[in-house]
Amino acid sequence: MRVLGIETSCDETAVAIVEDGRRILANLISSQAHLHARFGGVVPEVASRAHLEAINPMIELALQESETATSAIEAVAVTIGPGLVGALLVGMAAAKAAALALDVPFIGVNHLEGHIFSNVLEAGPIEEPYVAFVVSGGHTMLVYVPEPHVYEVLGQTLDDAAGEAFDKVARFIGLGFPGGPALDRLAQKGDPDAIPFPRAVTERGYDFSLSGLKTAVVRHMKAERAHGREPRPEDVAASFQEAVVDVQVSKTVGAALDKEVRTVVLGGGVVANSRLRSLMAVRAKASGLRLMIPPPELCTDNAAMIASAGYYRLARGERTGLDVGADPSLPLA
Ligand code: KG4
Ligand code: ZN
Repeated sequence: MRVLGIETSCDETAVAIVEDGRRILANLISSQAHLHARFGGVVPEVASRAHLEAINPMIELALQESETATSAIEAVAVTIGPGLVGALLVGMAAAKAAALALDVPFIGVNHLEGHIFSNVLEAGPIEEPYVAFVVSGGHTMLVYVPEPHVYEVLGQTLDDAAGEAFDKVARFIGLGFPGGPALDRLAQKGDPDAIPFPRAVTERGYDFSLSGLKTAVVRHMKAERAHGREPRPEDVAASFQEAVVDVQVSKTVGAALDKEVRTVVLGGGVVANSRLRSLMAVRAKASGLRLMIPPPELCTDNAAMIASAGYYRLARGERTGLDVGADPSLPLA
């Protein structure tokens, strides 16, 4: 079964065609990062307009690239939230029009469930129960998944999402936008133990907080400069990254052990981070946990993950009405 997937929740216009929920036939991403870079962050109006320009040509291209006739599309899946409402609406309008024109089932997908399903694209269905750690530019979330499509949120961020914090600290040390990947690269040349940044262990077990760490980075750099020393950006990057990742890995492994699951699943843009990937692998192994991590290119926003999650919901007989609206704060439930 070939599903057309569409994702426009933030600043990537993404279209994919996926067979049987796991075989990627086309997975196209048109990034708008260059349009937002000079503003230092995603500008919602700019994003909506760019999606509008890109979406139809992208669908055409995905069909061409996968050598799929429109008549071979058997369902349409689209992100309906969370995300920027104007951006979501563009993808949803295109998806609804396609489903209506082709007279095929339509399914709305939660973006965060999509990130979890990035794992299915390589490895096939994930066996429940498991604990998922979803970490992106907009979310940091630990989730217990007892059975298919059932999500129990164990904890989330009390302030900044991890990707957001990466981007802000990257900007502070002059790395541009989006700064996460650049900070990751710079950190590989630095010493993670150079600066003992605080580990933000919140009172509530599985929640996350990064505002204290962010402030500590700014304070450290100002204090160093006040003493006439120029902080080494690679050491700041490595030490900041280590503080973030250390807490994330501890809480994720802790949640898996508490919930007595054998599998840990990662998803979201920040999972492209090389240190998160390596430390999680080491600690999961030490605790006897099976770890699933999507390849880096499937961690960041894409439509293949949406097509996959949509496929598995459709296979259960689920359908979404064409009257569904975009929900910028759609909960994962
Ligand atoms: O999942 P995603 O593509 O979009 C959202 O749903 O938000 O995540 C984007 C976020 C950005 O904040 C970006 O800086 C971060 O993921 N990111 C990284 C890395 N690659 C992307 N953060 C740290 N290290 C990376 N290698
Ligand atoms: Zn995302």
